[in-house]
Amino acid sequence: MSTSNTSKSSRLSGFYKQSLDERHDLIAAWADLNPDQIATLTGTKGLDLSTAIHMIENGIGIYGLPLGIATNFQVNGKDYLIPMVIEEPSVLAAVSNAARLIRAGGGFTTSSDDPVMIGQIQILDLNDLQFAEEQIWLHKANLLNLVNEISGSIVKHGGGARDLQVHKYPQTSVGPMLIVHLLYDTRDAMGANAINTAVEHLAPEIETITGGRVNLRILSNLTDQRKARAEVMIPADLLKTDELTGEQAVNQIIEAGIFAEVDPYRAATHNKGIMNGIDAVVIATGNDWRAIEAGAHAYAARNGRYSSLSKWWKDDSGNLRGSIELPLAVGTVGGATRVHPTAGVALKILGVTSARELAEVIAAVGLAQNLAAIRALATVGIQHGHMRMHARQMAIAAGAKDQQVEQVVARLIGDGVIRLERARLLVEELNKEV
Ligand code: MEV
Repeated sequence: MSTSNTSKSSRLSGFYKQSLDERHDLIAAWADLNPDQIATLTGTKGLDLSTAIHMIENGIGIYGLPLGIATNFQVNGKDYLIPMVIEEPSVLAAVSNAARLIRAGGGFTTSSDDPVMIGQIQILDLNDLQFAEEQIWLHKANLLNLVNEISGSIVKHGGGARDLQVHKYPQTSVGPMLIVHLLYDTRDAMGANAINTAVEHLAPEIETITGGRVNLRILSNLTDQRKARAEVMIPADLLKTDELTGEQAVNQIIEAGIFAEVDPYRAATHNKGIMNGIDAVVIATGNDWRAIEAGAHAYAARNGRYSSLSKWWKDDSGNLRGSIELPLAVGTVGGATRVHPTAGVALKILGVTSARELAEVIAAVGLAQNLAAIRALATVGIQHGHMRMHARQMAIAAGAKDQQVEQVVARLIGDGVIRLERARLLVEELNKEV
C-alpha cells in the first residue's frame, strides 16, 4: 500500500488489497470519522428499521447494497475519495483506474451553474396566449416577490426566485396552453419541496392576472439551468496496450465516442455506463437518482435525437481529451441526505462544502466511468477486465499475497477456469515453491 507524498492524496495504489479493517482505518483518518461513523458504514449502525419504515409508507424492512470507495480522484486540484453504492462488480475498479490516468494528465477541471431549479405552472382555458404572456411579464417583479416572501431559509442563504420563462403551445388537443417556468435558486438543497411549494403558492395569482385556469404546478426534472461539467486530458502514452500504440488507442476511443454521438442505440449504453458512476454517488449521498436519471436522459435528447452525454477528441499534441455536461440537481442538505445516516457519512468522506461542488465531483465520476468503459471496449474488450477482476477476487479470497495475486490471476485466466478451488490450489503451489 502506498500513498503519494502529500498526507491528503487520494492516489492509493493497492486499496483493493487491504483488509476491511485497514480500509476503515484509512477512511477514518481521511475524513476524521469516529467509531460510530465507521459502524454506520458497516451497517452495524446506520439506517435503523424504525427510521427506514417511517421514510416511506407500508415499510417492512431495509434493503442493503454494497458501498465502496473510488480512489485517485483529483478535481480542480483537490483530492477526493468517492463513496459509491452499487451492486455491479468492476465499476469501482474501473473508475479508480480511469481516475488514475486522468490524474496523470492533470486531473479533472470542472464547473457548474448556480443551483437553479425550474418549477412549471400549466395554464389553460386562455383565449389570448399573447395577452396572458404580457400579463406575466407585467407582473414579473411581484410574482418573484411573492415567492421570496415564503421562501424562508433559502432566501436567507442567498437563494430564492431568480426569473420567469414562458413557453406557449397555441395548439394542443386540450386547447392553447401557456407554461410559466419559475427559475428558483435552491442553494445547497436539491430543492424539490421548495420549488413545488413556490409554484403552488404562485398559482392563484397567475390565474388572476392571466384569467386562465392553472392545472399542474410541479418542478421539472430537466434541470438544464443547473448543469455540471467536467473536462479531462489523458496523455496518449498512458493509453497504449500490448496490441495498440497510444495513438491507436486514442483514435479508437474517439471512434467509440463518435459512435455514441451519432447512434441512439449505442448512446443508451454509453450513457448507462456514465450513469453507473453518477447514480452510485447520487445514491451514496442520499440524493434522488430517479430525478438525476430523468434529467440526464432528457438532456441527452435535447436536440431532438438521443445522443451521448460526453464528447471525446484529440488535442494538437495527440493526447485524448474528454468532456461531459449534464443537469445535476443534487443537494447536501435536506431530504435523505441528512435523514439517512450513511449518506451523512458519505458526504463527510467526500468533503464537499456545497451542492455545486458535489455536482461537479459527480460529473467527474461520470466522465471517468465513461472513459473506463470505452477504453476497455475500444481496446481489449469489456469481458477482459471483468474476467481479470473476477480472477483477482478469487486469488485474494484464496489467500494470494502481493505478487502472488498477479501470478494466480494470470494462471486462472490462462487456464480459463476462474474458480475459488482452483485459485486455492495455485496459492498452495506458490507457497510450496517459496
Ligand atoms: C456496463 O454496466 C456499462 C457498459 O456497457 C458501458 C458502455 O458500454 O459504455 C460497459
